[in-house]
Amino acid sequence: MYDVAIIGGGPGGYAAALYAHNFGLSVALVEKDTVGGTCLLRGCIPAKSWLRTAEVFTTVAAAADFGVTASQPSVDWAAALERKNRNVSQLVSGLQGLLKQRKVDVIQGVGRLAGPGAVDVTGPDGAVTRVTAAKVVLATGSVPRTIPGYPIDGERIVTSDHALDWPQRPRRVAVIGAGAIGAEFASLLVDLGSEVHLFEVLDQVIPGADPAAARVLDRALRRRGVQIRTSTAVEAAQITTDGVIVPFGGESVTVDVVLVAVGRAPVTEGIGLEGTGVVTDRGFVEVDLATMETAEPGVYAVGDIVAGTPQLAHSGFAEGMAAVTHIATGTAAPVDFDAIPLVVYTHPELASVGLTEQEAKDAGYDVEVHRHSFAGVARAIIQGDNQGTVKIVAEKDGPILGASVTGPLAGELIHELMFAVGWEALPTEAAAFVHAHPTISESVGEALLSASGRSLH
Ligand code: NAI
Repeated sequence: MYDVAIIGGGPGGYAAALYAHNFGLSVALVEKDTVGGTCLLRGCIPAKSWLRTAEVFTTVAAAADFGVTASQPSVDWAAALERKNRNVSQLVSGLQGLLKQRKVDVIQGVGRLAGPGAVDVTGPDGAVTRVTAAKVVLATGSVPRTIPGYPIDGERIVTSDHALDWPQRPRRVAVIGAGAIGAEFASLLVDLGSEVHLFEVLDQVIPGADPAAARVLDRALRRRGVQIRTSTAVEAAQITTDGVIVPFGGESVTVDVVLVAVGRAPVTEGIGLEGTGVVTDRGFVEVDLATMETAEPGVYAVGDIVAGTPQLAHSGFAEGMAAVTHIATGTAAPVDFDAIPLVVYTHPELASVGLTEQEAKDAGYDVEVHRHSFAGVARAIIQGDNQGTVKIVAEKDGPILGASVTGPLAGELIHELMFAVGWEALPTEAAAFVHAHPTISESVGEALLSASGRSLH
């Protein structure tokens, strides 16, 4: 009998498994595929590898601006795909090594709750073995959703699962949904030379993000040729010999492939929840957010299946650690969900933490907003990448409530502001420290100075 059995070896599940060593817990990690989950196998990691290829391509294409003579670059798609696969394999092997070192028993098969403290595992050969454990953590993750009129066939109508493994560059692509997945693909595909149409039913790209930050990204993508249609609902696709017709509002575009990126659905069917006390809401598992325990005592849930928390790998990590801490100590160690950064790895990157200006107003705060543009930031100019803004949202005479960064290294810079939001720092406290010059980070320093009431540049 194990201390903990975990169903699902993605970021939520493997973080729980790895973290358990801190408490000397014995762990069984049940996984039907390779460990790594969506993020490592068919999400964040492969997407970032493709985005890096796009970045190298555009950097080389712009070499002349830097006084470097290079011949016009071209994309060796197969080599980029191979590099993506190598990046994934290296990280999967690293993870497997770490799990082994931490003495986690990885059990190959499909896990299913089978009564208190019992998980039945159907192995690749169909044989069922029972794993028993004092506590169970559900971490079965999510799968791409689709919309009516867009049945996924993996060829003409695909999800990110397929797009990350395209054997060659698609010539014309329609991306449905301008959330994180849709925007990242639109950014990398246009940079690699595809014709890209991006459709979003809501009124901006990255709905939910600060509208000004989203506008910076929207403009940058349009400038590079992405044809963005917001507030646009697409009608059912028509497959023809010339490609796929995507109709909308009396018009249409014809493309070679449609990438559907309209969100991800939790995987909670067939994992034995029926007959338990576990409560679900449209498939998502309800938990006590302080402990990650479900309404069934001894059964926890973490990661993309959890109701009301972000579907982000790092949120999954944190939830896995919180669940294991509660299992081991009986004491809640809640995740600070108010200070979880979101990073969209488009070019330019868009990152945010805490409340947006609108969310802060809706929450009843008397809000002050301070911005600093990258336009005059020395290192950003030198890098040739000085579009975008740092925006800080603070309570009037109070702490920093949230921030967004759109621009160079936004995904790294946001972590300074994560501390400010997490520690409820006053702008004067956060602005008291000196940023090195010349750095991209100075943009944050300057925004903090403005927020403290005394700006410099
Ligand atoms: P999402 O929920 O972020 O975005 C889906 C988008 O599709 C929304 O903007 C929605 O309004 C739009 N949409 C829905 N139905 C539509 C329709 N019929 N026509 C046009 N647009 C429609 O989901 P996404 O991008 O699929 O990502 C799934 C999850 O993975 C999200 O939680 C996301 O945050 C996460 N993720 C995070 C990344 C990151 O942090 N860099 C990267 C990729 C995914």
